[in-house]
Amino acid sequence: MRLNDCHNFHDFRRLARRRLPRPIFDYIDGGADDELTLRRNSESFARCDLVPNVLRGVSEVDLSTTVMGQKIDLPVYLSPTALQRLFHHWGERATAAAAERFGTMFGVSSLGTVSMAELSTRHSTPQVYQFYFHRDRGLNSAMMQAAKDSGINVMMLTVDSITGGNRERDLRSGFSIPFRLTPAGIAQFGLKPAWGLNYLLREKFSLPQLDAHIDMKGDALTIGRYFTEMLDPSMNWDDVARMVAEWGGPFCLKGIMSVEDARSAADIGCAGIVLSNHGGRQLDGSRTAFDQLDEIVQAVGDRMDIMIDGGVQRGTHVLKALALGAKAVGLGRAYLYALAAAGQPGVERMLAQMTAEITRDMRLMGVRNIRELIPQMLRFR
Ligand code: LAC
Repeated sequence: MRLNDCHNFHDFRRLARRRLPRPIFDYIDGGADDELTLRRNSESFARCDLVPNVLRGVSEVDLSTTVMGQKIDLPVYLSPTALQRLFHHWGERATAAAAERFGTMFGVSSLGTVSMAELSTRHSTPQVYQFYFHRDRGLNSAMMQAAKDSGINVMMLTVDSITGGNRERDLRSGFSIPFRLTPAGIAQFGLKPAWGLNYLLREKFSLPQLDAHIDMKGDALTIGRYFTEMLDPSMNWDDVARMVAEWGGPFCLKGIMSVEDARSAADIGCAGIVLSNHGGRQLDGSRTAFDQLDEIVQAVGDRMDIMIDGGVQRGTHVLKALALGAKAVGLGRAYLYALAAAGQPGVERMLAQMTAEITRDMRLMGVRNIRELIPQMLRFR
């Protein structure tokens, strides 16, 4: 199986699984507890049907949109995700370059393996910095300052991870940061020699957003333990209101699910919120972002931009979210599998396919631009 054989999400996933040591694949692929929410994320898009209009003259289709003040050519963006160097030796560099080529926004994580400053120097496409609120206030101020110095366009605070989700695949595999070669991991080198050689010979794994503040030489931590031990569960709306003021630019909360919280986010001046259950990796049994979208758009859609992520695999998923009033839709695993499968060409192929799907689906729906997608085009089963 090669990159040219990848025609959809499942193909990229299959190729990623061939390329990656199993613990790393499972870290991307897995969710919390019974993975109920993880499964429901994609399934929720099947709860409604698209009702197309025809004979609308759709030779020109415009996919561009503006979200939190950022003009982008596509209504999808690459959500911030951690540890990309482990998935491919180009890591975040590949993701950022592919996003720029397609004129969309990408996120770099607090747990990113390339520095936000390097990425913003190299790329002019809108960049989000994903912030984890740590117990270490010195680290929080330093990250805020680094984001300002780097000219980050949007600050995105993740609010659903104040303690670690129960990711049993990671407990079984021992997947942890810093990535360590346990005896079981060394056995994986034999199984995945290309990955192993790239890991050993290419750029060394590091966490530049954190390295100056956190001594990673001690215990290796699962991501679940990292959240629980390093992040601050006392974080509250007052802390966030202070951050919004300190940042001074577009500020976004990722992981909002209730109408009440959406209202509070608008009250403290957020430019946007991402409805998200963290890809089913935190609270299992949590509702899906798509299922919450309508009531949150009704409540606060005129006060700030609403985005969703979770389970998005198809152009039609994106159209359904846009029709309900989402301003843009975040991709996570969809590009991580592509990255693991083939680096930057993999992410570009995925984005090209997503662009083609959205364009085709808009034509088939009889719409020429994103604004023409409206709730009346959906029927819930
Ligand atoms: C995750 C984090 C790091 O593993 O966002 O879900």
